[in-house]
Amino acid sequence: MATSAWKVSRRMALATLVAAVPTAAGSAPPPDWAAIPAQTVTLFYPGQASYEWLRSPAHKRANAKVQAGEACVSCHEGEEAEIGGTIVKGGRLEPAPIAAKAGAIALKVQAAHDDTNLYLRFQWQTQMARAGQMHDYLMYDGEKWVFIGGPRSKEAVRSGAQPPLYEDRLSLMIDDGKVPLFASQGCWLTCHTGMRDMAGEPTKEQVQAHPLIGQVHKESDVRKYLPSTRTDAAASWDKTRPAEEIARLKEAGAFVDLMQWRGHRSNPVGMADDGYVLDYRLADAGKGPFTWNVDRKTMTPKFMFDAAKVGAKALALEDVGNASKPYALIREDNAVAYDPAAGWKKGDVLPGRLLSRADASGSAADNADVRGAWVDGQWTVLWTRKLDTGHAADDKALKPGSVVNVGFAVHDDNVTTRFHHVSFPLTLGIGTQGTLSSVALE
Ligand code: HEC
Repeated sequence: MATSAWKVSRRMALATLVAAVPTAAGSAPPPDWAAIPAQTVTLFYPGQASYEWLRSPAHKRANAKVQAGEACVSCHEGEEAEIGGTIVKGGRLEPAPIAAKAGAIALKVQAAHDDTNLYLRFQWQTQMARAGQMHDYLMYDGEKWVFIGGPRSKEAVRSGAQPPLYEDRLSLMIDDGKVPLFASQGCWLTCHTGMRDMAGEPTKEQVQAHPLIGQVHKESDVRKYLPSTRTDAAASWDKTRPAEEIARLKEAGAFVDLMQWRGHRSNPVGMADDGYVLDYRLADAGKGPFTWNVDRKTMTPKFMFDAAKVGAKALALEDVGNASKPYALIREDNAVAYDPAAGWKKGDVLPGRLLSRADASGSAADNADVRGAWVDGQWTVLWTRKLDTGHAADDKALKPGSVVNVGFAVHDDNVTTRFHHVSFPLTLGIGTQGTLSSVALE
C-alpha cells in the first residue's frame, strides 16, 4: 500500500476543531481520532502457559516447532478467544481460576505519529462497574496501620474477608528486532516457570540468596526475563549469565522495552512507567512516578491527604469506588506530611503509594503524557511517546518507515501477575504497513 494512504491531514482536521491546541514544538495528538483507522486486537487469558510449558511435550505436537522458533499464530491465528475461554475456567494451565472471569478482552488500538511523537489510543471494556484506580491501601485498625484488600487471586479476597483492590493496567512491549524470537513468540519469551504466581516458584530466601537476582537486584521474587540471559536450554530463573555478558546484551539493544500505564500508580499524574525486560523486569534509569507511602520501620504512612484541599485527611472504606472522592496521594498536589497525632480513627484509609510527577526524572519519566479516562464501563487511554526518547540504553527508538514488534496486555478487574489478558505478538508499522499501522500526521 502506498504511504500516502496512511496520511491524514492535521490541518484539515484542525480546521473543524476549535479547541485543539498544539503542544510545544508543534507536536500534538490527532485532533480527531475518528479519522484514524482503528483495529481490534483480541487479548486472551494465558494462565500458566510459560516459555517452558510451550517447549514441553504437554504442548502436544507443537513443542519441537516452538523450540525451532515457529510463530504462535502460524497455528493459533484467530484462536485467541477460544484459548482464553478454555484456560480461564481452570485446568492444567490454571490451577486457581477466578470465578466468572472473562477469557478475552477486545482492545481497540489506533496509532498516529508526527516527526516527534507516536500517539496511541487504546479502548477496552472493564469487567468491573468502576475504574480500577485503587491500590495498596492502608487502613487504621484502631492501633496500627495494616494493608487492606488486594488482587482477586489473594486468599483473603477470594474468601470475601477483604475487598478486591488492585489497579487496572495496560502494558506495552516493544522489540526492534534485536531480541531473538520476539517477532514470532512475543511475550511468551518473558514468562517463565519460577516467576511470581507461576509453577515452580522458589522461596523468598532462595531468591534473596541468588548472586544476581537477590544480591545485585535486591529482589525476593522472580519476574520477567529473556531466555538469552540464562545459560541453560530451559532458561531456568537461577541460571543467569555473568553480569558482563548481560551488560553486553543491553548495550547491543537485546532487551524488550516495557511500559505500563497504571490506573493508580501513574494515571493520576498523567504518566505511564517506563521499564525494560532483560535479566529481570527492570525500571529505566532515573525516577518513575510512584514510590511507597509507608515507613517500613514504624509501619505508618509518610503522607496523608491535605484536608484543606480535599476535605478530609483520609478516606473511609466505603469511599472506595466513589468517583467524587480522591483516590491517590500526589505529593505536589493533595498531600501533607503524616501527623501521627491527627486523631486517627478505626477505619481511616490512606493510599500506601505516593505519586509525584514533579519528582519523576530521567529515562524512567519518558512516558509523561499518558492519560486514561473511564466512562460508562470503558477505559480510553491516550498515550504520547517520543519516537526517540534519547535514552537508547533502556528504550527503543521508533523511526518513521520502520516496523517494530509489539505485544499488549491488560490487567482487568483487580488482578496482578498471570491473571491478565495478553496478545500474540503483532507488528506496528510507523507510517508503513504492519499488523497495526501508525498514520503520519501532517
Ligand atoms: C506447530 C503448531 C503450534 C505452534 C507453533 C504453537 N502451538 Fe500452541 N498448541 C498447538 C496445538 C495443536 C495445541 C493443542 C494441543 C493441546 O491441547 O495439548 C496447542 C495448545 C496451546 C495452548 C493450550 C490451549 C488450551 O486450550 O489449553 C496454549 C496456551 C498455546 N498452545 C499457546 C501457544 C503459544 C503462546 C505459542 C507460541 C509461543 C504456541 N502455542 C505455538 C499448536 C501450536
